[in-house]
Amino acid sequence: MLYPAQLFNHLCLALIALCLFPVVSEGTDMQLSCGTASNSSDSHGRTWYGDANYGLDFPGFSAKASYQHPSLPSPVPYMTARILTSNFTFPFGVDPGRMFLRLYFYPTSYGERSAADALFSVSAGIHRLLNDFNPAQTANAMGRTYLIREYSLNVTSAVLNVTFSPSPHHAGSYAFVNGIEVVTTPDIITIPVPRFVNGGNPDLIPISSSIGLETMYRLNVGGATLPGQYDSGFYRSWEDDSPYIYGSSIGTAFFKDSDVTISYPLTMPDYIAPVYIYQTARSMGLDSPHNMRYNLTWILPVDAGFYYLLRFHFCEIAYPITNVNQRSFSIYINNQTAVEQMDVILLSGGIGIPFYTNYVVVTVGHGQTDLWLALHPDLSNRPQYYDAILNGLEVFKLQDNSNNNLAGVNPTPKQNRDGAASHGQDKTNARIPAIIGGGAASGVLALLISSFCIYVMYRWKKTNYTHGKTNGNPPNGDRELLLATSHSKDLKLCHHFSFKQIQEATNDFDETLVLGKGGFGNVYQGQIAGRKKVAIKRGNPLSQQGIQEFRNEIEMLTNLRHRHLVSLIGYCDEDFEMILLYDYMANGTLQEHLYKTTKPPLAWEQRLVICIGAALGLHYLHTGAKRAIIHRDVKSTNILLDDKWVAKVSDFGLSKASADVDNTHVSTVVKGTFGYLDPEYFRRQRLTNKSDVYSFGVVLFEVLCARPVIDPELPDEQVGLREWALSCQRKGVLGEIIDPYLMGKITPQCFRKFAETAEQCVSEHSVDRPSMGDVLWSLQIALQLQEEDCNHSEETPLLNRSSLVTTGVRPSSGSTMSISGQKAVFSEIMHPDGR
Ligand SMILES: *[C@@H]1O[C@H](CO)[C@@H](O)[C@H](O)[C@H]1NC(C)=O
Ligand SMILES: *[C@@H]1O[C@H](CO)[C@@H](O)[C@H](O)[C@H]1NC(C)=O
Ligand SMILES: *[C@@H]1O[C@H](CO)[C@@H](O)[C@H](O)[C@H]1NC(C)=O
Ligand SMILES: *[C@@H]1O[C@H](CO)[C@@H](O)[C@H](O)[C@H]1NC(C)=O
Ligand SMILES: *[C@@H]1O[C@H](CO)[C@@H](O)[C@H](O)[C@H]1NC(C)=O
Ligand SMILES: *[C@@H]1O[C@H](CO)[C@@H](O)[C@H](O)[C@H]1NC(C)=O
Repeated sequence: MLYPAQLFNHLCLALIALCLFPVVSEGTDMQLSCGTASNSSDSHGRTWYGDANYGLDFPGFSAKASYQHPSLPSPVPYMTARILTSNFTFPFGVDPGRMFLRLYFYPTSYGERSAADALFSVSAGIHRLLNDFNPAQTANAMGRTYLIREYSLNVTSAVLNVTFSPSPHHAGSYAFVNGIEVVTTPDIITIPVPRFVNGGNPDLIPISSSIGLETMYRLNVGGATLPGQYDSGFYRSWEDDSPYIYGSSIGTAFFKDSDVTISYPLTMPDYIAPVYIYQTARSMGLDSPHNMRYNLTWILPVDAGFYYLLRFHFCEIAYPITNVNQRSFSIYINNQTAVEQMDVILLSGGIGIPFYTNYVVVTVGHGQTDLWLALHPDLSNRPQYYDAILNGLEVFKLQDNSNNNLAGVNPTPKQNRDGAASHGQDKTNARIPAIIGGGAASGVLALLISSFCIYVMYRWKKTNYTHGKTNGNPPNGDRELLLATSHSKDLKLCHHFSFKQIQEATNDFDETLVLGKGGFGNVYQGQIAGRKKVAIKRGNPLSQQGIQEFRNEIEMLTNLRHRHLVSLIGYCDEDFEMILLYDYMANGTLQEHLYKTTKPPLAWEQRLVICIGAALGLHYLHTGAKRAIIHRDVKSTNILLDDKWVAKVSDFGLSKASADVDNTHVSTVVKGTFGYLDPEYFRRQRLTNKSDVYSFGVVLFEVLCARPVIDPELPDEQVGLREWALSCQRKGVLGEIIDPYLMGKITPQCFRKFAETAEQCVSEHSVDRPSMGDVLWSLQIALQLQEEDCNHSEETPLLNRSSLVTTGVRPSSGSTMSISGQKAVFSEIMHPDGR
């Protein structure tokens, strides 16, 4: 019982606490945008609150990033930063319990401060999260432009203090942060008790309910990258696993059978992982004898000297696997057996039922090392299929309980990479404490080699090239091999540039010259001495795409010349560099003229001409080239516009050739971009040219509606552009959701033709989709219908329409000519060699 005086004291204390220590948020989830007073939304529609609103007394200043890198998912929270010149604590008011703390860093120069001087430590409550951390160095080594660090902490007090301390070991050091996020979660980590692998001693590191963890990897195995808004409420993002697969045998990625429903068992809360994770999986493949000869292996670079909790997510999702002992396999972690006879049906209870399991493994040494995970069929019970499966994987670093530390060391910076790689090829070096970062260097090599193997395998599968060789096992890390193959005759067809020339052309890869960033790496604007402007794409071996895509692109583009395909000028492959030079496209991507832009909107006729140009490029790929080619990644950011607004299809890193596209398909790992991906290809892994038609149909809707293909800010039924546009089209109200700028500017006949074409392109079944030639024809008719009706006498000066309109060529078979006297664009198709 409290006496009034005591109560008064308590109140006073509480008030004093509030006055003395302004608290950010009161026990609710919080997204703090640092270095600003304004509250603003990110691209997912979540509000970020400016940190200047909370009466905190910051040592330092707020700053704006000088440059918005195109790969940033959203300007908020990355474009503003809180610069801290001495120790500072952000106090977050929280409800005690487990929560995610996420720190967002966009390393670039802020004001006068150089990114190299950002060297600081971060702690949260009792946990040390980062130690002498340099975001720029880390991002560079990882091939990223921004970093998100995610921690799961069990906070026992009502305030979580997040403290930034500039390093005392470096003169002029400062700390910065762009965003801080706190999301309360149920206990998603510590149940059930995990098993220990390789000498881990549960007594040494009790996994208590109060342990702090850092998320190292969260992989959607066999599926696409899932951004945070698809998560079950905690904004966890899940990454495509394929960049981490080792060796030439990458198994088969697949989607659940359509009549399988994922149903969570009562014992498993559905927030453990969203349903998307269980809907896709990777197995070893259908070739049992081959499966016996290899391990399906992932390699994940981590900080040495920590325990790691590995969470494997399983779910059988495809017939005929419905019974116990149809598929049984072993899991190896760091070459030690974690489990034998893993039978997902046995442990989950049936098809469509998710199941997960945890293991803990110890790594030794300092610096970086690799975690090896491998699956292999287990024959001890004579299962029906010799195969293995995995749907999802999470890797968490566990804090060192002796000092509550979670911080590793900065990975080896990129400029040291080549040297380190050439000295440190012996992978065992990675485990010797003295060679800090040796692991990272070896990791680069391993990735290069594995990518190379994948490349060889693709070539072997598809085109009987003479030097292709596949045996289940990858070649053993021989640099000779790598170099020998990088001078095949394909490469001689286009100009070789020295690395020095490239450095000069890009002002040594000046950040301000970055035009864009893709899975492959950065694209810079450059000027090769005595030549016109070029676009220079520099591959990062640690990036998602690797050497096979580099070589794929060279091989594709040296053999392809077309007005509507971007042209390759040359390449540089010195040491570990993978650099490609293209014609410079002055007007950037199609997407940046459609939405989220300050550029003036494009006229409807101009959009039609651009679509026709892109369709010409794709049609040429499908039918005109020596070998038919499937682009595989058609999207509005891969349609570029030159200074005369001529559309050019770009990015052939994923493209595939097939001998005869009409009646073959390519069975392949599903790649492409979420929102544009053909569902049939996703389900059946049969790649045909109709997959490009589907993606192109999505682009057509994008052009019409001027909105992103996936826009999570919108109500559920509107999130996916294709579904929303189709439902509006069926109700006859598509005209109401088009780009407001276009309202009243499209003739009804043109609109009908265009909408009908887009609708056919995105048909569920590929047989219902038109060919690219038919699409082209329809678009040309749409343009005609627009021009006939509208008396737009002046041509917009941006267009070069005469380049399109040539005469006397018939459409591809199967389409009907509905307009007499049709001017056509098909000469380019019929005479593909003409350029
Ligand atoms: C931002 O939101 C906070 C919390 O709701 C509020 O106190 C503050 O006034 C807002 N700031 C601005 C500039 O709107
Ligand atoms: C948070 O930091 C403030 C001082 O900055 C301190 O008074 C308070 O006790 C700290 N709270 C916790 C829970 O560590
Ligand atoms: C700043 O923080 C660091 C690390 O937390 C600590 O070692 C140092 O003493 C602090 N400096 C000051 C001036 O408080
Ligand atoms: C957090 O830690 C406290 C005390 O160690 C424990 O009682 C509680 O169950 C933990 N909460 C969670 C969600 O792990
Ligand atoms: C596992 O074995 C492979 C091949 O023998 C070896 O290259 C690798 O370094 C080993 N990994 C670990 C973590 O020991
Ligand atoms: C698979 O990995 C385990 C553990 O590293 C190893 O013992 C086994 O030989 C490997 N099997 C194959 C076929 O590579």
